[in-house]
Amino acid sequence: MRISVIGCGYLGAVHAAAMAKLGHDVVGVDTDAAKVEKLASGVAPFFEPGLPELLVESIGSGRLRFSTDIRDAAGAEVHFVAVGTPQLPNSDGADLRFVRGAVDALAGVAAPGSLIVGKSTVPVGTAAELLGRLERLGSQAILAWNPEFLREGFAVADTLTPDRLVYGVADERATELLDEVYARILDTGTPRIVTDFATAELVKTAANAFLATKISFINAMAEIAEATGADVTTLADAIGHDARIGRRFLNAGIGFGGGCLPKDIRAFTARAEELGRAESVAFLRQVDAINLRRRERAVELAVELLGGPVFERRIAVLGLTFKPDSDDTRDSPALDVAARLHGLGARVRATDPEGIENARLRHPQLEYVDTAQDALEDAELVVLVTEWSEYRDLDPEHVAKLMETARVIDARNVLDPVAWREAGFVYRGLGRS
Ligand code: UDX
Repeated sequence: MRISVIGCGYLGAVHAAAMAKLGHDVVGVDTDAAKVEKLASGVAPFFEPGLPELLVESIGSGRLRFSTDIRDAAGAEVHFVAVGTPQLPNSDGADLRFVRGAVDALAGVAAPGSLIVGKSTVPVGTAAELLGRLERLGSQAILAWNPEFLREGFAVADTLTPDRLVYGVADERATELLDEVYARILDTGTPRIVTDFATAELVKTAANAFLATKISFINAMAEIAEATGADVTTLADAIGHDARIGRRFLNAGIGFGGGCLPKDIRAFTARAEELGRAESVAFLRQVDAINLRRRERAVELAVELLGGPVFERRIAVLGLTFKPDSDDTRDSPALDVAARLHGLGARVRATDPEGIENARLRHPQLEYVDTAQDALEDAELVVLVTEWSEYRDLDPEHVAKLMETARVIDARNVLDPVAWREAGFVYRGLGRS
């Protein structure tokens, strides 16, 4: 099929390359000329494992190209909208201007009977609004909402082998076209749920709200563990054995960040308020508050471990991205902790395998070094804030030799406390005795 993908960020670039991998003829469109130039030459503009190889393969096969001109989308039978829906600057709501802009632009070029498919995460009710917009603009394209559940770091696999496909449709033809797009995925037995617009939009919002709640639940237990001497990691292991609960997404630490969970729970709260249902999701305010408290707790622990104010103390911060295997520092708890410590006057030396460039744009005041070794030298405290495998695998004996004093805060609870204590460290995790 001929496919266009409007918006080539973390979601759209991966989707475009994956659609070409499935055998379609794809054009990715983005207004950012520098990004388009990189993508067109097979270079991923951000770090995502497997994406560079997929880009090179798909461009080489002649099935994938990129453009800054929306008119290049004109011949497609299916147009995916994969633009961002960031948080509005002065409210919790989602900024829908890019989605509306993409749909307006497509209204001018999409052929009658072609399908416009929203993939961006939007507040419930958006698709219905956009359908009215298309009609007012005289477009005869049809609309569907097909939310995306990919995780950064696993984006390629999540797109090519998703857990499920969800179609929000108002028209049988939309289902037929989407089945054709995803034929090879459906052939492997992937579940497909066909529903209305509102349910499809809510599936995505509810999934992210649930995941955020699960993380904040275990972080709330970490707070109780800290007050009682219990160990939250053992607690998570034990309750996780109950199949109804499950162990995944029960890792306590400095909480969730990134371009999705934080803004999505806030946008959900804002939308529920608009719908007069604020109390139905009032708990999401607590989820957000618990999450933000954990960053503060990591800073408090630094003060505790150093035995006084962090002012002018040398602190190594390992990790800047919101999670490993990504270069994304949007709403990153790791970067926030580094910036807070710096704000209190600590001499922070921070490092990350992939995130330094993005971190520097957000917090140019921090000192960034290339390697963990550089960060650790002569430090009085090391704080592990993003669980990259190279930090998890650090040899505590070696680290102890580099540092002035052997103190570690394991803010993701991924180190072996016994091994680190044996190497002479004062070890503290979050929510661990
Ligand atoms: C999330 C959803 O998982 C994905 O389905 C959706 O499409 C987009 O939003 P992503 O933002 O890539 O994906 O990150 P995710 O893997 O969900 O992690 C989010 C944050 O939660 C990270 O900061 C991570 O460190 C944190 N986290 C995750 C925890 O603190 N504890 C956990 O147990 C799991």
